[in-house]
Order: sequence, then C-alpha cells, then structure tokens
Amino acid sequence: MLRMTGMTPALGVALAALLGLTTLATCTTDSNNTGPVDTCDPTVRRANLPCEDDAEVTRALQILRAMSLEEKVQQMSGPTYNPNNMFDQQTNERLGIPGFLFMDGPRGVRWYNSDYGTTVFPVAAARASTWNLELERKIGKACAKEMRYVGRHILLAPTINQVMHPRWGRAQESYGEDTLLLGTMGAAFIHGAQYDPKVADPADPGTAVEDTYRIQACAKHFVANNIEDTRIHVNAVLDERTLREVYLPHFKKAVDAGVSCVMASYNRVNGSYACYSQETVRDILKTEWKYQGWVVSDWFAKGNTLTSPAAGLDIEMPFSSGSFPSIFESEYFYGLSLVTAVGSGLVSEDLIDEAVLRILYAKVHNGILDHDPAWTPWLTKSEASQELALQAAREGMVLLKNGPDARSLADDVLPLDASALSKIAVIGKFANSENMGDKGSSDAKVVDGELVTTPFEGIRDAFSGDTVTYMEVAGHEADLADADVIVVVAAYFYADLARSSSGEEGEWKDRVSMNLPQRDLTNIADAVALKSTHPNLKVVVVMKSGASIVVKDWVAGADALLMSWYAGMKEGTALAEILFGDVNPSGKVCQSFPVNESDLPVFDNTNKGDVVYDYYHGYRWLDKEGIAAQYAFGYGLSYTTFEYANLSVAESTIGADGTLSVTVDVKNAGDVAGSEVVELYVGYANTGVDDAWGRPVKDLKAFARVEDIAPNETRTVTLTVDASDLAYWDTGAEAWKVEKMAYELFVGPSSDASDPNMLTGSFTVN
Ligand code: BGC
Repeated sequence: MLRMTGMTPALGVALAALLGLTTLATCTTDSNNTGPVDTCDPTVRRANLPCEDDAEVTRALQILRAMSLEEKVQQMSGPTYNPNNMFDQQTNERLGIPGFLFMDGPRGVRWYNSDYGTTVFPVAAARASTWNLELERKIGKACAKEMRYVGRHILLAPTINQVMHPRWGRAQESYGEDTLLLGTMGAAFIHGAQYDPKVADPADPGTAVEDTYRIQACAKHFVANNIEDTRIHVNAVLDERTLREVYLPHFKKAVDAGVSCVMASYNRVNGSYACYSQETVRDILKTEWKYQGWVVSDWFAKGNTLTSPAAGLDIEMPFSSGSFPSIFESEYFYGLSLVTAVGSGLVSEDLIDEAVLRILYAKVHNGILDHDPAWTPWLTKSEASQELALQAAREGMVLLKNGPDARSLADDVLPLDASALSKIAVIGKFANSENMGDKGSSDAKVVDGELVTTPFEGIRDAFSGDTVTYMEVAGHEADLADADVIVVVAAYFYADLARSSSGEEGEWKDRVSMNLPQRDLTNIADAVALKSTHPNLKVVVVMKSGASIVVKDWVAGADALLMSWYAGMKEGTALAEILFGDVNPSGKVCQSFPVNESDLPVFDNTNKGDVVYDYYHGYRWLDKEGIAAQYAFGYGLSYTTFEYANLSVAESTIGADGTLSVTVDVKNAGDVAGSEVVELYVGYANTGVDDAWGRPVKDLKAFARVEDIAPNETRTVTLTVDASDLAYWDTGAEAWKVEKMAYELFVGPSSDASDPNMLTGSFTVN
C-alpha cells in the first residue's frame, strides 16, 4: 500500500536507527535480515554508483533491500496533486525515509512566508552578463542557505536552456545564447548551491557548521526546451550534431559539476516526450555521461508507465489522483499504475531498483536521512545575500550606448554630474514598481517591500539636486520641460502563470515581438521630441527585460542606453550608482541584440508538431549570415576605455589532448578604474567538415573577468582552451572529433570581429 501520510524526519531518524539502517560496511547483514549486500551488484552499476567499499552506497542498498515494491514506487512518485503540497514528496514512515521537499527556483528561493522573505537576485540573464563565475557560485550558495533556512532539500535551479531566440519567454531564467557561458555559469551556481556546510569556505569564512544536510540543485529543463507557448506539445527535431554541440554541452557541464538532480522537460525531443526519451535520458545522460544523480519530471509533464522507467525517469512530480489543472494534459503514470505494471511483468523490477537506489543514495549522501529538524538553522538574516544581489545588479547591467555613436570619452553623457543638475524626471509604467521578472515558477518575492528599491526610488535617494519626479507616461510636457535629464524606464511586464494573457514575457508566455511595448516607445518618442526645444536635455533609456530588444527605430534619439534586465531587489540602488558614476559599468550582454528580428532565424512558437532546430542561432547565426548585430554578443561599454595588445600563444602547435595557453595585455586607457571581460573565440575557416552545417565562423572558448584595472594600469590576462573543447560531433563515427588543422584565434572585448580592439592570431592542432 502506498503511504500518503507525513511523518517528522526526527521520527524517521529514530525508526531508521531502530531498523539498523545506519552506516554499515560492505557485504554485511543488516538487522532487518535482508541478507548481505554486494555493492558491486548490477543495480549499483546501473546507477553509476561506486562499486568499491562505499559506506553510503551500502547504506542505500541496505534500505532498498528492506523495501516492498510499493515502498520503492513511493520513492518514485510525488505527492497526490494538491496546490498546497505539490512540492512535498511523501515520507516512508515504516523505514523513516523523509520525502524530498522541493522548491523553485532560478532567481532566488520561491518561498513566501509572512515572517521572512528570501532574497530576489537579478535574473540569470543579468547574472550571466556579469561573466563573474565566482559571484554566481556565491549566489548559488546564498540560495542554498535560504533553502536550509526554510527547510527544503531540492532547489529547482539552475535553468540552463539555450536562449535559442530572444522571444523565448523564459530567456530571463537562463544564462544566454552561448553554450560555454551557459554551462560554466550553471556549473558555478551548482557548486555554490550544493556546497557542503561542514566544509570551511575561504570565500565565506565562519560558515562551516555541523549536523546539517546539503541542498541538491536541479539542472533544468532536459532538453531542447526553448519555446514556451507550445511547451507541452512541441516536438523539437534535432539532428545529432545540433543536439550534441548546441543543446547538450551545458547539461554535460552540470553533470560534471556533480548536479544531483536533472529535470526532464515538458516537450518532445525527436519524437519522444523528454520524460521517456531513451535517446537523451537513458542513452546520453545516464549511460554515456555516467550520471550518478536522479531525474525528475517537470511538474505534470507527460510520462509513461512503461517507457519512462526504461528511459530512466526516476521521479514523477507530482503524482496525481487525477485532478489536474485543465491546461495540463497529463495523467499520472507512476504510483499505483507502476506497481501494477511491475506486478504484471510489464516493467522490470530491476529498473525500479535502479531508480530507487539513485534516490536513496541522494538522501543518504546529502544527509537527509540524518538531519534533525530540531537543529536550529544559523541563518536568520540575509543582509549578506542582499549584498550579493546588489553586486550582481551592478555588474550585470550593460551600458550599450553613451553619447554619440562615434564614441569618445569626452562626449560621454553618463555618468551624470549630479552637482550640475537640478531636476531629473523618471518615467515609465514600471519605473516605480516591483517588476523583478516572471511570476511563474521562477517567482521569488521579498516580503518586506522596504528592502526593494525601484529605479525611481534609487535615483531619488541618490540625487542631491532639487527634485526627482516620477510619472508613468510622458506627454506631460509641462512637468518634463524643466528637467535636465529624463530617464525612461522601458520595461516588459512579466507573465503570471495564472494570468498569462496579461503578461508580456515569462513562463508559458513567449514575447510577441522583439520591440519594446508601445507604451515605452511612446514615452521614448515624447522625451526625445522635447530635445528640439530643450537642446541641453539628455534622454537616458533603461531597458528591463529578460532578453534582447530591437532598438534601431529610436536609439539615435537616446543619449545613453542601459540594459538592466530584471535586476532584482536592489535594481534601483545599482542603477543610480551607475547613472551617477559611483559604479563603473562592466556588464556584457549574454545574448546578441540584432538590428532587426528578421536578422535571426524564425521563432516558431505556434506549431504544436515538429519544429526543426537549426544548428545556428544567436551570434553564430549572425556570423554565418554575415549580418552585423546592433550590439554583438559579449558587448558592453565602460566609463573608461581599454586597449588590447600583445596577443601571444605559448605554443603555436598543440596535440589533440593538449591545452592552448594565450596571454593578452589589457590596458585601462581612461581615467577611472574599471573591470573588463576578456573574450576568446576560436575560428574554423580551415575546416574540412562539409556536411549541411559545416562549422561556425567562430565560437566562444574562454573568458576572464578582470577586476578593477586602475587608470594606466596594464594587466596580462591568461586564457586556456583544451584542444578537446574544439571537437565537433562526427555523425558517421558517432564520436567527438578534433580536427587537426590551423585554427583562428580572436581575443577581444566582444564577439564583434570588427572591433578595433579585436586581436587575431592562430594555432595548430596536430
Ligand atoms: C516549471 C519548472 C518548475 C516547476 C515547479 C514547472 O512549470 O517548468 O521550471 O520547477 O513548474 O514549479
């Protein structure tokens, strides 16, 4: 019988102790008379767990051996659907095994409680635009601390889906359009989120504690989940190279980072729903990559009683008694259906054992079985996390334009000289309200509204002049006319799952176009029109969105342009610091900003059938088509300028298992300190690959964020690339292959090969 009732973990620990289910040596007999266990048995092998004498594997195996079929299947099933407990797996009372307690999500812990809120970080698109891996690790860790504080186990983050197109509604949740940036950012978050609380962290001294459990991150959504409007129907069709080279490498990085959980997505991939895809889950993730963790379905995603266990889906969330919201066309497939299928021989119990061993091992390894909830969490305040949110907002905002297009520092409009201004007008529908991104599963909320600073509040609090006024719309010439500066905050409105028709981008809601909403275009036009009668007026446009925007029709009239993304709870503070020059912007866009939407491949978000994924998107597409971007992937300005020189390659020829080492000098040629992101791209002009895709013009292979370079200071930056990272997927050989040839090298401040600072070179792999 499946048990649906709860029990306290403390009771569970006590029961487990009574049953002798504590750490045991390999091949011993437990007190439940389940016989000796062999940690090299086929179940352990199938779960990719260590075969050697491993106390945690032994313990998990001991528990598995003590379980009935119903108890095993219970581990694989979420709660009966109920809007209030859809994140809580059931506890096994007899054996004292707590169920997993899940919680979203990617921009902070999604937990509402009247006593405390959690930290709302800038969305992942903003954090990726910092290119700061150590900051992302700390943010992952800060989320994990808050998860422990609210008593959950599984953090449903990071989202590491490709931003195949900027109109994808969930682009904000992910780290951009490049697989290296996506994968390294995701891995950094995972390292932080899965930190071991017992181990001292030099970057976070004094935080090691005893007697606690470890949070598990969940990389999602596996795989080819890049369209919202049709997400539960669409069949993403990918040829092998496109799948392997463009849509999977960042998931491989998450696996290599030791991610505990992978979430299988709603969509179909090459004909099968992701929750029963033999190709992606069983063959690639579990067999080829030797993934040791467990796979959970996205909530209510379509699975199958017979084929999901075979494909390697370990947990169905939530398991249902049948009452689903009508928008989901799911039916439950684990729970009693699975017990019956095993009983009648349609599903092998070996598959059940593998799944349950993975789950039990995760519970043992991460301390869930031994966690005493009576232990008081040490985290009671989150000021340190809010400081990280502020830092990410500062570093993730991208200065796209500053003064005339032909830029010289002397003509810069930003930073503003507050002492020379008397009035600033801040306009925009969301200039003075909490608009921190999607209101779907990635929603995270600050309970204490006082902790949030809106753009208007940030500017008002920082400005020492006479007045800062705020209005939703322009058209108030009388109010605006005496302003020295108009800051137009042009913002998309998030989509709320329950009200998706009112939202403009978010979960379940793709954007309808890449233009700004009409209300913002009107505001910009009205503000710019005033310049004809007020020649000293400056118009600064601040864009808030999760993805790139087409600006060509109005950007000439703007004196400065900033991309703020959804910059989290401290957005207003960071924005004001940048506008007034207390912080020098250093962000670089994690997505290409094309001149026209038609410069990109077509985004098909209406077709519920086959959608063929192209090998090219983003900057790789623009490069291949020879189309210049408005703002290239990796682009962003600073209040200083940098000069790149002396590109040097340690060894110009390396072996296929060697590592390329490159140095470049970066000089701060202005008069304020600044941080610079140095990017390394490799080009494939000499490729011999002549299939339909060939090879890209170039792609990102390394980057480094160089902090605080003083005026006139030169830093030598070293970047490395393993030759194995240059491989393409050889479809005929079904293997990765590194071409032995001369490669081009591009090292500079963005992906724009025409940037005067772009240095070029070459090296050979033989
Ligand atoms: C989303 C997931 C999320 C889950 C639970 C789904 O709709 O796609 O990202 O983790 O809900 O909230």
